[in-house]
Amino acid sequence: MSIGHLEGIRACVFDAYGTVFDYASAAARCRDVLGDKLEPLNALWREKQLEYTWLRALQERHADFWKVTGDALDFALETLGINDDRLRSRLMNFYLTLDTFAEVPEMLRQLKTIGLKTAILSNGSPAMLEAAVKNAGIGPLLDEILSVEAVGVYKPHRAVYRLAVDRLNVEPHMIAFQSSNAWDAYAASAFGMRVVWCNRYARCPERLPGKPDREITSLVELPALVSADPPSMIR
Ligand code: LAC
Repeated sequence: MSIGHLEGIRACVFDAYGTVFDYASAAARCRDVLGDKLEPLNALWREKQLEYTWLRALQERHADFWKVTGDALDFALETLGINDDRLRSRLMNFYLTLDTFAEVPEMLRQLKTIGLKTAILSNGSPAMLEAAVKNAGIGPLLDEILSVEAVGVYKPHRAVYRLAVDRLNVEPHMIAFQSSNAWDAYAASAFGMRVVWCNRYARCPERLPGKPDREITSLVELPALVSADPPSMIR
């Protein structure tokens, strides 16, 4: 993978869950009840949530991310032998106020200082994304909050990445797309965006179409990569 900053970027577009918001923080707040089932629940909930989005997209039977997230949680809870309505309701409510990764607000501020457009592009429903953005206090730092609900199909369908191009009115090769989900990063690259894979979870590269232009481990590194100025100018 090449190094150095990306030329000609006009907009930075971010995946939401796992990239801006820490999806594991919902279950972490229920550690008292979950005990040693915390890690398996987190892994299974996320795995099923994504699997259901892909399966529904393939079946052309869309339901919004709130429904899919709830269905995935029910599957995970039953698999782990947990039958607790109050816990289910706490977990779902916490999904609306997930922790924001610590570097995000300052990183967005730097991007706005550089003069770039910023947006979220996510599977999340508009209500889920608005709640999380409001809780994080990053609304004023985002030009657009884009939900797949506008196109009625989940990532990695190309219609989702096209939505960002259309709404921001910026050509794909002038958009830097950031995701911690490698499959999402690869798909955005195959679509034609420039891609910075934020590999927070230390995953191996995918064997899928596309190839991220850069790989970082935290979004702290992003402003220097997309700035037209040498990195030292914006530190
Ligand atoms: C999203 C999922 C993929 O926010 O994390 O779109």
